Amino acid sequence: MRHSRRTVLSAGLGLAGATLLRARPSRAAEVTFTDDPFTLGLASGYPEPNAVVLWTRLAPQPLVPGGGVPSAPVAVAWEVGTDEALRRVVRRGTVQATPDWAHSVHVEVAGLEPARDYWYRFTSGGARSPVGRTRTAAARGTLQNRLTLAVACCQHFEQGHYAAYRAIAADAPDVVVHVGDYIYEGRGTSRVRTHEAPECHTLEDYRQRYAIYKSDPHLQAAHAAGPWLLVSDDHEVANDYAGEHSRTYEPPELLLRRRAAAYQAYYEHQPMPRRLRPMGSSQSLYTSRAFGDLAAIFMLDGRQYRSPQACQPLPLIACDELYGPERTMLGDEQEQWLRRSFAASTTRWNLLGQQTVLAHFDQSGDGPRAYWADSWNGYPAARERLVATLLERPVANPVVFSGDIHAFLVNDLHAVALDNDSPVVAAELVASSISSAQQRSQATFDLWKSENPNVHLARGDQRGYLRVAVEPERLRADLVAVDDVTRADSPTHVLASFDVENGKPGVAR
Ligand SMILES: [Fe+2]
Repeated sequence: MRHSRRTVLSAGLGLAGATLLRARPSRAAEVTFTDDPFTLGLASGYPEPNAVVLWTRLAPQPLVPGGGVPSAPVAVAWEVGTDEALRRVVRRGTVQATPDWAHSVHVEVAGLEPARDYWYRFTSGGARSPVGRTRTAAARGTLQNRLTLAVACCQHFEQGHYAAYRAIAADAPDVVVHVGDYIYEGRGTSRVRTHEAPECHTLEDYRQRYAIYKSDPHLQAAHAAGPWLLVSDDHEVANDYAGEHSRTYEPPELLLRRRAAAYQAYYEHQPMPRRLRPMGSSQSLYTSRAFGDLAAIFMLDGRQYRSPQACQPLPLIACDELYGPERTMLGDEQEQWLRRSFAASTTRWNLLGQQTVLAHFDQSGDGPRAYWADSWNGYPAARERLVATLLERPVANPVVFSGDIHAFLVNDLHAVALDNDSPVVAAELVASSISSAQQRSQATFDLWKSENPNVHLARGDQRGYLRVAVEPERLRADLVAVDDVTRADSPTHVLASFDVENGKPGVAR
């Protein structure tokens, strides 16, 4: 289909009608799209045994405010079928995409069958989207013999191409787990490609940033290949923010205003259920999904409720303030939710998707202990409480997936962080960045690894993601590395593989 540069409103509305509709936004617009409105792709997420969320956003002109859609509700039809050609449609419906949520669509499709593939597409204003594939979770009471995951994070648009997402799309895992830094609010150095948009502060800024990032065909392909679970980290809002506090010490009310804009744009661009929709400056992101009796995934928010970083303004620290027992990463409510959820969990594997490095990781070189203040190493009391929660019942086969550091790390989490003779509680697998640059040399990572016996691998010189296969007796993680992040068509290779065995906490030797 050939598209002109305009979106044509049907007769009787016209351009004057569009202006009129801005004053009365509740009236639905009869729109005929002559430009493709599905420029940002489509997505699915948060699978349950009988349900999944489908997402798209109408934006024939994604980089302009309003996306090129009249400021009025627009009808979007959706259909779900059991074959890729959508000859056998099992569910369909129509929703209104409204301008207050950037004409995004979040359809919670129910009545599906567990552990099976589905395909879906949208139609609006005479335009039809491509077809996406999704998959429901297995039902309780069934022990599937395999669950496949990709773990991804840190995808600075300017610092690299998304060859890693091309590989994830080819894998078509059962679930993609994204642990943050989906966008970067600022510009970057080490640019491979550029956008001209300035640092984000307003809702329109953040919307435009998502539109830029989501224009990437490989990111779209990874979304169209299977359902996602997501948590945001700092760069979806502002670098290293902590709760209500920004790294630049702006007044909390300014950061909260920024948070509200950023959280709204995040929700508008992700396949999230309505329950995760933000209310002003707060967004209840933490949640879990179970995949039959095999695995549960707990997605944690270590950003929105945390105490400010200790011992500032230095980024690497170990001062007395660090050890304050009241300092929190998850906040009281989330800690209690996690304790209850763990206590109720009956799955063979319990996987945590969360943002920053959890295991002890001394980054001092030769000097006294020094930690990256923004990771769990800057919140030792909070880490102790999390470890205590894992040991309480104890939780069956916990494995932690993290990101943030732009490096692959494979760690053992010990009962006492500083004591490598204390029992191992869990394995931690840290995904490197999809594309975000690493400023530190591999020699530095080699030094840090030699200082930390609980760290089995530390590679800061590789971009990529984790390809994970969960089976009843074993979890295997392939560290998939991109050969050349400056090329969208770059091959990928498996840098290393690590196993975790059923009943044996930590990384298998
Ligand atoms: Fe990052």
